[in-house]
Amino acid sequence: MKALVLSGGKGTRLRPLTHTGAKQLVPVANKPILWYGIESIVAAGITDIGIIINPETGAEIQAKTGNGERFGANLTYILQAEPAGLAHAVKVAQPFLQDSPFVMYLGDNLIQDGLESFLQQFHDNGSDALIMLKSVANPTAFGVAKVSAEGQVMELIEKPQIPPSNLALVGVYVFAATIHEAIAQILPSARGELEITDAIQTLIEAGKRVDARQLSGWWLDTGKKDDLLEANRIILDDCSATAIKGDIDDQSQILGRVSIGTGSRILNCTIRGPVVIGQDCHLENCFIGPYSSIADRVKLVEADLEHSVVLADAQVVGVHQRIVDSLIGQRVHIREAPRRPKALRFMLGDDSQVELTP
Ligand code: DAU
Repeated sequence: MKALVLSGGKGTRLRPLTHTGAKQLVPVANKPILWYGIESIVAAGITDIGIIINPETGAEIQAKTGNGERFGANLTYILQAEPAGLAHAVKVAQPFLQDSPFVMYLGDNLIQDGLESFLQQFHDNGSDALIMLKSVANPTAFGVAKVSAEGQVMELIEKPQIPPSNLALVGVYVFAATIHEAIAQILPSARGELEITDAIQTLIEAGKRVDARQLSGWWLDTGKKDDLLEANRIILDDCSATAIKGDIDDQSQILGRVSIGTGSRILNCTIRGPVVIGQDCHLENCFIGPYSSIADRVKLVEADLEHSVVLADAQVVGVHQRIVDSLIGQRVHIREAPRRPKALRFMLGDDSQVELTP
C-alpha cells in the first residue's frame, strides 16, 4: 500500500495569505496542515508516500517537510507542472504508484478519524474505490454523492448547482490500480480540470465496486480563514498538553494547557490556554486568550489577543484593543492603537503592514 498526498494546486482561496506561500504549510496549532495528513498515513502503517508539489511552492514544501525522516516515512516529491486537477495529479504520479493500491489525501484537508478501519474495509470488500462522506451545510462547494437507501453510491457530481444530497466527498480516498484506467477515460470538467470525482463516477458506470463510508469525527477543509481558525480551535482542544520550555517571569500567569517553545520569553503576561507558542518569541505585557497559536519568532508587546493565529516573525505592538478571530500572516507588523474601538478583526496576508493611528 502506498499513499499520495496532494500539495500542489493553485491555493487561490486563502489569498492573500497564501499568495506567497503554500496553503498546505499554513500551521494549525503551530504545525503545517500537510503534516497532519502525513502523520495519519504513517499511523496507519503506510510509509511509502508520494507528495504532489507545484513549481511555485514545491521547493518550500520540500525544504520544510524533508525526506520523511521526521515521520518515519519515505517521501518522494512529484512535480505536477500545472494545477490540472486531482485526477491529473494521480496521472502524473503513476510511475511512483505503479499498480499499488493507495490512499489519496488532499494536503489541505484534516480529518479526525484514523485511517486504519477505512483501509480494513477497503481490503475486506476488495473495493476499487472507497470514498469518505460527511454531511455538510453547503454541498455546492464540494463533490457530492447520491447514495441509495442501502448505502450504495449511485452517482457522484463535482460542485453541483443542485446537489442530490448534502453528503460531501471528503478529501481522503482509497483506490485500487483500476482508478488509472478510469482516469484515462475522463475529459476536463467545466473548470478545466481532470476531476477525481469524474474518475470515480466512471468506475461506478463500469460496474466496479465503489464503497462509501460516513466519517464519524470532524472534517475540516482548511481553505478559508474561518475554517482555519476552527481547525486551530479543534486541534488545540483535542491534543494540546502543557509543555513549558521558554522562560516565564514571576509577574506572568499561565492558566490551563499552554505550550511555550525554547528560547521564548514571557514577561508580565497572562496566558489562558489552550494556547501554543513557538520558539524564540517575545511576549511582554500581553493577554493571550484561549484558542490562540503563536508561531516562532513572534513579538507581542502590549497586545490582547484571543481565538487567533499569528504566523512566524509577525509583530503586534501597542494595540490596546482585543484582537479576536484573526489570522495574521508571516512578517506582518501591527503597531499602536487608540483605546476607542471595541474590537478589531483581521485577515492579513504575509508582509502586510497595518498601523492604527488615533
Ligand atoms: O476538500 C474536499 C474537496 O476537494 C472534494 O469535496 C472535491 O470533490 C474535490 O474535487 C476537492 O475540491 P477542491 O476544489 O476543494 O480542491 P482543491 O482545488 O482545493 O485541491 C485540493 C488539494 O489538492 C489542495 O491541497 C491542492 C491540491 N491540488 C489541487 C489541484 C487542482 C493539486 O495538488 N493539484 C491540482 O491540480
